[in-house]
Amino acid sequence: MTQDNSSQETPAGQTGGGDLFNTAAGWVLFAGVVGLGLAQLSKGYFHGDKPDRPEQLGYVIEGVVEDSAGPAEISIAEALNAMPAADLIAAGEKAYSKCQSCHTIDAGGANGIGPNLAGVMGGPIAAKGSFAYSAELKALGGNWDWDKMDAWLKNPKGYVAGTKMSFAGLSKVEDRAAIAAYLNSKGSNIAVPEFTAEAPAEDAAAEGAADSAAPVEGEDASAAEAAGGASADQPVPSNPGTGE
Ligand code: HEC
Repeated sequence: MTQDNSSQETPAGQTGGGDLFNTAAGWVLFAGVVGLGLAQLSKGYFHGDKPDRPEQLGYVIEGVVEDSAGPAEISIAEALNAMPAADLIAAGEKAYSKCQSCHTIDAGGANGIGPNLAGVMGGPIAAKGSFAYSAELKALGGNWDWDKMDAWLKNPKGYVAGTKMSFAGLSKVEDRAAIAAYLNSKGSNIAVPEFTAEAPAEDAAAEGAADSAAPVEGEDASAAEAAGGASADQPVPSNPGTGE
C-alpha cells in the first residue's frame, strides 16, 4: 500500500512538467478532434463532400425549360416563315413605330437622325450618299441580307461597335423578322430564305401522318370497321325498310 502510494507520488512529483505537457497535448488533441468533427459535420450539412455535382446547375422547371429553349433559339429564317408574308409585313409595320423617330421609309424620304430606309434590304450597307454614316458602319461592307439585318436590329452597338444608331435593339426574333420583312416590302424584294429545319418538317409530317393514320390505328380502326360493317349491312335492312 505504502509502496504503491509512494510509487505513484514519486513519478507524479518528478514529472510535474510532463503533466503540463500532457495536459497541453491533450487539449491540442481535443481541439483537433473537435475540428475534425466540425469539418465532417459541415461537410455533411453543406454536402461539400459530394463527389458528383449535378449535371445541370440551377432549377429545372419541368416542361418549361425545353419549351422556352425552343422559341428563344429560332432562326430569322424560321421566324420569317412562321406566318403568311402579308401578316408578317403588317406586324412589321406596327413594330416599325419604334424606328420612325429617326427614319423615314418611303422612297425619296428625307434623312432624319438616321438615313432614309427605302430599298435598304438587299442594298449596299451605309450607301445613302446624302447621309453621314459612322465610319464603323461604312466599314462593315456588303449588302443588307436577312442575317445581317437580324444581327443589326438585335443589338446595333453589339453588331457595329461605334455605330451612331442609338437604339437598344429588339430582343425578339419575331419582331426583327417582322420589321425586316416590312423593310423588304418598301422598295426591296429580296427572297425570303426557305426554312428547312427538321423539326417543323417532322411536325408537318407527323401532323399529316396523324391525320391519315387516325382512322387506321387502334380503336379507331375497329370503329371504322364497325362503321364500315354497319354501312355495309345497312343497305340490306334499310332496303327492306324503305321497301315497307
Ligand atoms: C435614335 C435614332 C434611331 C432609331 C430609333 C433607329 N435608328 Fe436606325 N439608324 C440610326 C442612325 C443614326 C443610323 C446610322 C448609323 C451609323 O451611321 O452608324 C441608322 C442606321 C440604320 C440602318 C442602316 C442603313 C443603311 O443605309 O445601311 C438600318 C437598316 C436601320 N438603321 C434600321 C433601323 C430600324 C429598323 C429601326 C427600328 C427598329 C431603327 N433603325 C431605329 C438611328 C436610329
